[in-house]
Amino acid sequence: MIRTRIAKVLADGQPGETVNIRGWVRTRRDSKQGFSFIEVNDGSSFSGLQAVIDSDAEGFDAIKDVTTGASVSITGELKESPGKGQRVELQGKELRLLGTADAETYPLQKKRHSFEFLREIAHLRPRTNTFGAITRVRNAASAAIHEFFQERGFCNIQTPVITTSDCEGAGQMFQVTTLNLDRIAEIQTKIDFSQDFFGKPASLTVSGQLEAEIFACSVGDCYTFGPTFRAENSNTTRHLSEFWMVEPEMPFYELTDNMELAEVFIRHVINTVLERCPEDMEFFNLRIDKTVLETLRNITENDFIRLPYTEAVELLQGSGHKFEFPVEWGHDLQSEHERWLTEQHFKQPVILFDYPRSIKPFYMRCNDDGKTVRAMDVLVPRVGEIIGGSQREERLDVLTARIEECGMNPDDYWWYIDLRRYGTVPHSGFGLGFERLIQLITGMQNIRDCIPFPRVPKSAEF
Ligand code: 4AD
Ligand code: MG
Repeated sequence: MIRTRIAKVLADGQPGETVNIRGWVRTRRDSKQGFSFIEVNDGSSFSGLQAVIDSDAEGFDAIKDVTTGASVSITGELKESPGKGQRVELQGKELRLLGTADAETYPLQKKRHSFEFLREIAHLRPRTNTFGAITRVRNAASAAIHEFFQERGFCNIQTPVITTSDCEGAGQMFQVTTLNLDRIAEIQTKIDFSQDFFGKPASLTVSGQLEAEIFACSVGDCYTFGPTFRAENSNTTRHLSEFWMVEPEMPFYELTDNMELAEVFIRHVINTVLERCPEDMEFFNLRIDKTVLETLRNITENDFIRLPYTEAVELLQGSGHKFEFPVEWGHDLQSEHERWLTEQHFKQPVILFDYPRSIKPFYMRCNDDGKTVRAMDVLVPRVGEIIGGSQREERLDVLTARIEECGMNPDDYWWYIDLRRYGTVPHSGFGLGFERLIQLITGMQNIRDCIPFPRVPKSAEF
């Protein structure tokens, strides 16, 4: 018999219908009358299906091994459920035990486990309520992102993971090499990168932006959605060493067009998840963060505040609030500053723009004041910076000078500079950290719980 997903059974299964379901046992209760209740979850929905197995059902002799975590296949007839909260239950006619799960050693028993503990068993945590829900929300958000851009005629570009240029110029790249490091250490010689696999130093990308610009300036509006890597040694609840980034890049867009797009984009993704994952979202609001639905509604229903960086600094300095780090023009804002602006002061998402050029990368368009660049950061409650973007410097001479000012070698960026030499146009784009978005949507405290297999300093298990 063909398996029916439990989500489908719960949504449109009719009493009297015969179905086969397969999944993992959450709980089993045995009644005095000799029948058993089994709650089965197959991950297709938050709720599992309750199955009632009579002692005369085929395969009932295996019932004592049907323990939490075991995998089963149950065929039977759907009945109207007498219990609260569920429309139908399954009257099991045939029970097959597919795989046992030793109750002595199976780590996921029916109690609450800490997220720290669950991170150590990332191969089993998707079977829990929380991680099942996060996985489905991630999936819905990812689909919503592609739909958003596809509906608007954006072209999806696959940019390289291995690269020889540093997009952010921050020196946070993981090197990729096939050189024998033991041997080099042994003979204590200077490394000759011409002997390395690519003939020069190569790394994992920190962003697909530079390559996306090539396509924005040829096929037009485009976006990348891929893994990016940062070797920054920050052990925070908002940083990963490997994370996914969505990067749209648009020709003929100025900074205000860029802001407009970022705003409708975030709203679209949140609305889609709320619409497609109502049960998972109820759970987050009930168990993870009681304000998460309110926060999301606030984001989808209000315009984002737009504020120049300089004015934000003045606000922060005049706030009377005691910050751990001082606020000073020309310094990057800390997460505590960003959160004060969006959570305490405006109580709304805020787009800060026109940042000091000294703290932003070479590619951002220089303003006439000689001090700031056309940068924008979108700040949201609880997470802080969720998007970073800018209008790009399209003037050949200004870009070349900026690259030098940043202590980089224009020769290394010859192809990027060529885009300004041949048919240059104003253009803009931004990058959204996908896991920070998931953090915002689910209310999860730690970004390590918003990606299936987190990579952070000293940890790359699984
Ligand atoms: O602000 P960032 O560094 O911008 C860029 O990389 C640009 N090239 C994007 C572009 O314009 N196409 O990173 C963009 C976003 C941040 O706002 C943040 O949400 C996320 O990526 N991000 C991280 N997320 C998790 N862990 C980290 N270590 C992150 N670093 C950045
Ligand atoms: Mg940034």
